Amino acid sequence: MISNIEIDEKRKQKTVRTLSSVYNLPTVPIIVFEVTKIIDDPRSSAAVLGKTISKDQGLVTKILSVANSPLYGIPRRVSTIDFAIVILGFNHIKNIVIALSMMDAFKNFGGGRKFDQKSYWSHSLVTATAAKRVADDLGFSFSGEAFTAGLLHDLGIPVIYKYFNKEYNEILSLVKNKEMSFAEAELTTLGNSHGEIGKILVDRWNLPVALSEVIINHHNPSLANNDNELVAVIHLADYMTQKLGVGSFDWDKNYSFDQSVIKTLNLGSEEYVENFINSYKDLFENQLESIKF
Ligand SMILES: [Fe+2]
Ligand SMILES: [Fe+2]
Repeated sequence: MISNIEIDEKRKQKTVRTLSSVYNLPTVPIIVFEVTKIIDDPRSSAAVLGKTISKDQGLVTKILSVANSPLYGIPRRVSTIDFAIVILGFNHIKNIVIALSMMDAFKNFGGGRKFDQKSYWSHSLVTATAAKRVADDLGFSFSGEAFTAGLLHDLGIPVIYKYFNKEYNEILSLVKNKEMSFAEAELTTLGNSHGEIGKILVDRWNLPVALSEVIINHHNPSLANNDNELVAVIHLADYMTQKLGVGSFDWDKNYSFDQSVIKTLNLGSEEYVENFINSYKDLFENQLESIKF
């Protein structure tokens, strides 16, 4: 149990200080500024937006992989960025570009043990598309936000890898040798969870408050003060990757399901949740095949 871990307040504060004094934390990437400017300009066209996005081929591949993912549910094959813009819509493209660029900001770092970028990306994308789909299926209007929040919910993990590499290695050792959960090991070495660390970053980038709320509480949605339904959907989608074994991530091993979600999302009973999750099995499996880098 996480509650058995005594959090060293000094260590916790030190981690927060270290993070806030890192001046070379990635700033919001230029492409995000450019894309936001185009989208917020009522005179701009899909063609101009497509041209700007095409400057970043990695982004193009990822956007197409989102548009073609089975969980996303677009029946036709989307093979060009211009078509993706038409199908997904300006605002949704904006959210996707922001989220993908944020994730990109933590790519390609070296040192110590390897960070499994591929599993991280698959996990984030499956969680994002599942969160969007679940939000739609349950009749919530926030499915766009759910997608972005799903992509970014574990952002704190690559941050730990990059800025606290010594602790990152310590966490892996504690999990392996002392049979601790990742959550316990994070608190032991850093005094902060990856959720708390991700939140610091998102706040620094002035991203929406709802996103912060999701990131800090995604393992414990009952602790959320606002946007409870959104936080609950992300928790459920995150748990589904683990439960269905599709797009699961090591860091989420022993992920415990927060029962408060049943009430928040009006799911009735534990048994209903179980059936609900299983009804997504095929979609999840097809989803994994469609993921590209
Ligand atoms: Fe997490
Ligand atoms: Fe996760």
